[in-house]
Amino acid sequence: MITTEQLKETEVLKNFLSHAPLYPHGFVKFQPGGCVMPPCYEKYHHRIQNEFKARDDDVWVASFPKSGTTWTQEMVWNIMNNVDLETAKSESLDIRVPFMEISGIIEPGLTKVISENAKQEKDQSDMSGVMPLDDSLDSVLNLPTEKPRVMKTHLPVELMPQEALTNSKIIYVARNPRDVVLSWYNHWRILEGYSGDFDGFFDAFLEDVGGYYSPYFSHNIGYWNIRERDNVIFIFYEDMKKDLKSVIKKVADFVGKELTDSQIEILYDHLQFDNMKNNKAVNKQEEIEGLAKLTGIKSIGDGKFMNKGKSGGWRSKLTEDQISRMQAWEQDRQKNTDLKFQYD
Ligand code: A3P
Repeated sequence: MITTEQLKETEVLKNFLSHAPLYPHGFVKFQPGGCVMPPCYEKYHHRIQNEFKARDDDVWVASFPKSGTTWTQEMVWNIMNNVDLETAKSESLDIRVPFMEISGIIEPGLTKVISENAKQEKDQSDMSGVMPLDDSLDSVLNLPTEKPRVMKTHLPVELMPQEALTNSKIIYVARNPRDVVLSWYNHWRILEGYSGDFDGFFDAFLEDVGGYYSPYFSHNIGYWNIRERDNVIFIFYEDMKKDLKSVIKKVADFVGKELTDSQIEILYDHLQFDNMKNNKAVNKQEEIEGLAKLTGIKSIGDGKFMNKGKSGGWRSKLTEDQISRMQAWEQDRQKNTDLKFQYD
């Protein structure tokens, strides 16, 4: 049974919310698990619990945001679809691998504004793929039954449909928190219109209230603790950076697909950062530009989703003080787990 509770109104939280124009009702904590979400999510949670039914061959890409989800989605979809680059390049990844709960975290007021603005847009065709015009749970429910569904979620284990956690294949991708916080800040600026500086955002991240899906550590640890189930695999962004071909092979093996050496080579090339950055089926550029137009918020669109694509950027971006505070936070949150991250 899921319940919600108020977050402690700290200065850090107040500061965060004062710069988050799309979340006028703030956040609450979902228990058990403590996941931070906007209050409107509660209704969607119940919809998911009631309407979602796992299929025998379902495949999930799960992660804490900014951990390489999009990269992993593109890898997994191609592995599942015989490296069909023609479709991969022509059909938006958001349609091929829908993000189940996204509609539920968007405040209804905003959904209405966006939909009404979209109706007035002369050319609505370039708005396709702009969330939340389509209901995301419906997109998942309506995926064809002839082939396995590949779906994306950022839900922590406590909020996932439980039958998916036991019956479906789950690929969880994790990335070190120091690079995640930088990438998350960029995301909040360009997709959520966050107007605050990085320092305040960083403080909120360390206080476990830096945006929906927080806390970072319990999210990662929740999946880490079930990684030994036959239906779960836990992979790292940093390993994808170091040796993508090995990760492709490992994931293909996990989902029971055999790729030829030449398919691996082609997929490896397709998944390179520069290729993904220039591929409009995956780079979210149209979605960001659409949102900027529809919301009129200044920082939305002022940057790229495919931003740096590197590991270890935190070394030059975080201050010495932030690094030592982060290390202390990591030590504390990792006291009772053997989950370790790679920082470069
Ligand atoms: P940066 O913001 O550090 O550049 P998610 O998809 O979970 O939101 O993660 C987004 C992060 O993954 C961004 O990180 C993005 O640049 C990075 N990314 C996406 N595709 C990538 C690729 N092919 N290679 C390396 N990084 C990639």
